[in-house]
Amino acid sequence: MDFSAASPGSKRKEADLLFVPFWKTKKGPENASSVKLPSWNIPEGDFEGKAEEVVLIYGTSIPEKRLVLVGLGEEEHVTVELLRRAFGAALKAVRNKGKTLHVVLPEVSSLSSSDTVKGAIEGILSVNYQFTQYKTNDQDKGKNIHAIVLITAFRGAVELAKREQAIFEGVYLARDLGNGNADDVTPHYLGQIAKGLAKEKHVSVTVHDKKWILAQKMGLLAAVSRASSKEPVFIVAKYEGNPRSKDWSVLVGKGVTYDTGGLNLKPTGSMEDMKCDMGGAAIVLGTLKALSLLQAKVNVAVVIPSTENSIDSSSYKPGDVYTSYLGKTVEITNTDAEGRLILADALAWAEQHLKPTRMIDVATLTGSMMVALGSEATGMMSNNDALADALCIAGAATFERVWRFPLFEEYKENLKSDIADLKNCGPRWAGAINAALFLQEFVGKTPWAHLDVAGTFYIQGMKRYLPAYSTGTGVRLLAELLTKGAG
Ligand code: BES
Ligand code: MN
Ligand code: ZN
Repeated sequence: MDFSAASPGSKRKEADLLFVPFWKTKKGPENASSVKLPSWNIPEGDFEGKAEEVVLIYGTSIPEKRLVLVGLGEEEHVTVELLRRAFGAALKAVRNKGKTLHVVLPEVSSLSSSDTVKGAIEGILSVNYQFTQYKTNDQDKGKNIHAIVLITAFRGAVELAKREQAIFEGVYLARDLGNGNADDVTPHYLGQIAKGLAKEKHVSVTVHDKKWILAQKMGLLAAVSRASSKEPVFIVAKYEGNPRSKDWSVLVGKGVTYDTGGLNLKPTGSMEDMKCDMGGAAIVLGTLKALSLLQAKVNVAVVIPSTENSIDSSSYKPGDVYTSYLGKTVEITNTDAEGRLILADALAWAEQHLKPTRMIDVATLTGSMMVALGSEATGMMSNNDALADALCIAGAATFERVWRFPLFEEYKENLKSDIADLKNCGPRWAGAINAALFLQEFVGKTPWAHLDVAGTFYIQGMKRYLPAYSTGTGVRLLAELLTKGAG
């Protein structure tokens, strides 16, 4: 994306689109900027300036081919999220109608100039994404905006917009990975993507193979991967943006590239979306990409255990006991509870080898979390209040909201096994908490948080400024957390 700026009073060049924001007032719609506009004739009531209302006008004397009126609602109710929604709605309304865009930024008394730019640009950049990899017809490929002129008196606008673009490069990567065929986005392919990130400064990547996984005695990852013809990988990617600091945040992402359920096979209706089960991996890779493009002054390591959860005669078996990397034994009571198994080995390995200051795992882990929260918030469990609070704050700032669940000791009963140290699956009740309690068994004293993105990473239809299917939700959250240095 090419960003530039122009002052509201200046003469503008030609472009495909002009977005102009409006407040809703008692006297009707009111220009929310100081940009001079031509007069037009809209029948009364067709445009009031309500939040997310959009009207397209042709044939005015402006240099742009189309004038798009963007309703922001009443000024006293405006928020950053409302700006995301309003500008997102505007681009949605004229999607594929142009490649060059002039955006008049509103003057908002209750928000800082930075927040105003962020809200508007995030809404636009989120909508400026279409997944067309599997379309063969050129017309279906769609057009995205590739140049934006910000019309504002605020000097810092272009720099902020470029930062947002860097973060969205991470979001788009996560979306692409989540939307790709499971037969394309394989463990090996995730490794290739990770290696590609090493072209940025301060990034180093190692992709370990099956032999290494077996030699490390990652018995749970090895068990889950047994039945797939696609070999597992264990990815370790580091971004050392602050070499003087010893702090390392470790992000562990679930990389199940397809989840059939294994011998506890998923039924029809539950399997169709399971190419999204590497959402955690996609999010942590997207975050690493964003941080490296920003050259943020932080140290972040990404760890991804990646495999298919497939099925054949070598499948790991319900009823058998397997030994984890940490040494704890696990009775498999359900092969569909595979995410916690591979994450257990990854968390334990990361804690031993990477000396993390804090660890955050991200996973499409349980249907139970989808039942609890739907798609409006990511569920979180943590052993550390400061980290949990920092995640909630980052969630509020990005509107990638995070909601904390408890890790009640009492539910540890659910994971007791008669024949092994633990079993991998408890009863349905408190299913998302049982899963997190299982993970906690593989984390020592390190501050740790678990993010269950099962409901937020992948959705069934377009929602506000989010696309259908892979949303990339989680990247903006983690980028915010890690660049704020909170927690
Ligand atoms: N990948 C699924 C969780 C999931 C479900 C993600 C729906 C996205 C959408 C996970 O591996 C799984 O199968 N979980 C089981 C756990 C159960 C067997 C304890 C579930 O939630 O049903
Ligand atoms: Mn599963
Ligand atoms: Zn899964």
